[in-house]
Amino acid sequence: MPDLVLSPQVFSILSALVEERVGLSYSLSEQDLFASKVSHRAVEAGFESMLDYYYYLRYDDPEQQEFRRLAETLLVHETFFFREAEPLRVAIEQFVAPRVARGQRARIWCAACATGEEPLTVAMLLRDAKLELHVDLIASDLSERALQRARSGTFSPRALRQHARHALAARYLESRPDAVIARAELVQSVDFRCINLLDKEAITKLGSFDLIVCRNALIYFSDQRAAHVVRTMAQALVPDGALLVGVSESLMRLDTPLVCEEHAGVFIYRASSTT
Ligand SMILES: C[S@@+](CC[C@H](N)C(=O)[O-])C[C@H]1O[C@@H](n2cnc3c(N)ncnc32)[C@H](O)[C@@H]1O
Repeated sequence: MPDLVLSPQVFSILSALVEERVGLSYSLSEQDLFASKVSHRAVEAGFESMLDYYYYLRYDDPEQQEFRRLAETLLVHETFFFREAEPLRVAIEQFVAPRVARGQRARIWCAACATGEEPLTVAMLLRDAKLELHVDLIASDLSERALQRARSGTFSPRALRQHARHALAARYLESRPDAVIARAELVQSVDFRCINLLDKEAITKLGSFDLIVCRNALIYFSDQRAAHVVRTMAQALVPDGALLVGVSESLMRLDTPLVCEEHAGVFIYRASSTT
């Protein structure tokens, strides 16, 4: 399939449209990668010029159906079971278990969960800590395709590539040569939803959380957009609730109301007790 030409001007307006609707931010150095993904999708949709494709997406795309298809090709769903599991365990121990110990129900939201290995890891950790009956676990992503995979409970062997010997894997995951299958009750314990992180109204409707996990997603956003999302998440935290980001991510440079704290070697962003 021949690539359509993406001029700097059309790159600028097309990438701005993507950034505005889903947050993904592309620098000039990523123009070629962006061009090849968008061109592929534009040709498949029957377009012969990137400018025509842009006008269609911006002004003629009923219910943003084509835009959603484009977004699916741009999103990166890299994830795996037990990825950075120790920070998850610590966050549960420090911010979820105490509420349950007080006789209350706790709530966790895994935002940008991709194909689901992360919330399923959380579900296993909750079972390991005997908390599962007292915690609501919601997981979301923008990608319907990724969520379909998550809800199916069937994953590629790569999903377990780094942690096949994890003690919890033996209890909750069946490892076959061609697939990793999560136990049905584990999958059913996660409420998977399609949510755009830029959709403040949808996030507000989710209610309040003791712990929000949002890892390896805000790295694709501009600082300004990431700060905006974090501020929305901060409003969705109970007083003293916590936001966990990836180990290589930092929110320190962003203007947000959350305070960075170290808990058992893990950096966690905490809402103030009066939020
Ligand atoms: C690299 S994966 C991270 C998965 C998981 N959190 C982890 O750390 O293993 C990034 C995910 O962010 C999702 N994402 C990107 N932009 C989003 C948006 N605006 N709203 C919701 N999800 C988004 C992508 O679909 C993708 O599944």
